Amino acid sequence: MTPVVPRRLPLSLRRGGVPWDRQRPTWREARPALIAAALKRAQDRPTGNWYVLGASAAVTPGRPFGRTIAGSEVVAWRDTAGRLAAGPGACPHLGAPLKDAAVSRGALVCHWHGLALPGDATAGWSPLPAHDDGVLAWVRLDAAGGEEPLERPVQPPRPAAGATVAAVHDVTGICEPADVIANRLDPWHGAWFHPYSFVDLTVEESDGEDALAVRVSFKVAGRVVVPVRAVFSAPGPRTVVMRVTDGEGRGSVVETHATPLASDHRGRPRTAVIEAVLATSDRPGFAVARAAAPLLRPLMRAAAARLWRDDLAYAERRWALREAGRFPG
Ligand code: FES
Ligand SMILES: [Fe+2]
Repeated sequence: MTPVVPRRLPLSLRRGGVPWDRQRPTWREARPALIAAALKRAQDRPTGNWYVLGASAAVTPGRPFGRTIAGSEVVAWRDTAGRLAAGPGACPHLGAPLKDAAVSRGALVCHWHGLALPGDATAGWSPLPAHDDGVLAWVRLDAAGGEEPLERPVQPPRPAAGATVAAVHDVTGICEPADVIANRLDPWHGAWFHPYSFVDLTVEESDGEDALAVRVSFKVAGRVVVPVRAVFSAPGPRTVVMRVTDGEGRGSVVETHATPLASDHRGRPRTAVIEAVLATSDRPGFAVARAAAPLLRPLMRAAAARLWRDDLAYAERRWALREAGRFPG
């Protein structure tokens, strides 16, 4: 007898699914030249020199947040009004790491000799443009970006904040942003490489826009799945967006941002993958889910962690092959 899945739950039962090794191979469709062309189009789009620094929630009041982005040491903190402030991460006096400074009355106070940086130009130190979009913290690095600066980061539309459960996942790998973006522009690997998360994946013709549409089922447990249609696009060289256009969670968005960091001690590039999951649903049950958001977040992060372990391995492998001149694409 078929078990009954309550209608209120966003689940379906998968019928007639094929085992992993008997699903349709996707390698013929996942043409290297197609992925390379999509990556190239993404790389030609402007960023205005904006980089994702991390989750907005990672910059907490009272404590500085430091990260080296594209080789530049950056510090960020919250002023007394909770606004995001950012600047170079070395103290202009004798170079102390400002990520270890104190935050006092909205100013950064260097712990070596007490120089206070209130957030405007002081003692040869100048702030950097920063932007907090409520989910992610951004910083503009004009020297590193080398593009025409933009007032604000180029951002794809998001579901309304009040109707969303947001979670941000932040991992680092040995690769370049292009490797992360190329991984995401290959949706054909989904059901093969992540069988624990995805089944029954087909890539459809794109919608006319520069995007790939995918029909796929998210695996919940056993034969219980959530079928969706999702569209992947790359609005910039360091961002891929997946938007659920049909099925449960319609309107939900996963933004994957790749931020170049400092090289490691062997000179290999390091890239942070900062992924914002903005889940929304028009189901009545979602209001309950939203109330449980603090509980949902670690679950959403755990799901992403497993995917990202594998996707990072893909991106790192791609970089290593490129580095060795052995990348087949
Ligand atoms: S190094 Fe920062 S005050 Fe001296
Ligand atoms: Fe993947």
